[in-house]
Amino acid sequence: MNRKSKTLIVAVDGYSSTGKSTVAKIIASRLGLTYIDTGAMYRVVTLEALRRGLIEEGKVKKSELQKCLNDLHIGFKYNQETGRYETYLNGEYVEDRIRGMEVSRQVSVIAAIDFVRSFLVEQQREMGSQESVIMDGRDIGSVVFPDADVKFFMTASPEIRAERRYKELIDKGIKVSYEEVEANVRERDYIDSHREVSPLRQTEDAIVVDHSRMTIEEEVEFMIGKIKAKY
Ligand code: DC
Repeated sequence: MNRKSKTLIVAVDGYSSTGKSTVAKIIASRLGLTYIDTGAMYRVVTLEALRRGLIEEGKVKKSELQKCLNDLHIGFKYNQETGRYETYLNGEYVEDRIRGMEVSRQVSVIAAIDFVRSFLVEQQREMGSQESVIMDGRDIGSVVFPDADVKFFMTASPEIRAERRYKELIDKGIKVSYEEVEANVRERDYIDSHREVSPLRQTEDAIVVDHSRMTIEEEVEFMIGKIKAKY
């Protein structure tokens, strides 16, 4: 895949709840890159599928979902007050909705559908061709931008990741048990790395960042050092 213009592309892939988005957002603001959360895009499609009643007992009504995809406009806006990037679906604020357990439970099933992936990958490539980006996801370095300038792969044990996710949800006032969160983390790992289309995998040229061994600030400094070495 050849990019039309020369923009800097930083890919941050890895397991769920390894702090990908936290470090990617900090790096984006320090280096003046645009941050793109591709997981949020899969979550928006999942929210829409749930709202339309297209997921029943883990089964997706695919042809109906395919028909409605072109009506979905996914946008991100930076909120100056909260310092957060927030997700919009056709102009509606959906940031909190897409982070809840209902969407989290179903999102891996939606992310395993080939036409959903090609629809979103096309938009992600378009975003990276227009401006320099740091993009977090599962297949950025392997599929979306195999020629990304720098690729990171983030990892940590399932327990550390579940603990992190549990705290995040509790802080947001969402009621869950730790066991439920850990089960969800493990289930998503399994589905994400075993699906047929674009499974989560570490590419040979990716730099591994182990979230269990470094603080956020150490990770950020390490990653910025690697990025700066490229330009
Ligand atoms: O990063 P996250 O937990 O918000 O991602 C939500 C889901 O979407 C997760 O199950 C993996 C999937 N995903 C994917 O398949 N490809 C991406 N580029 C990003 C996320």
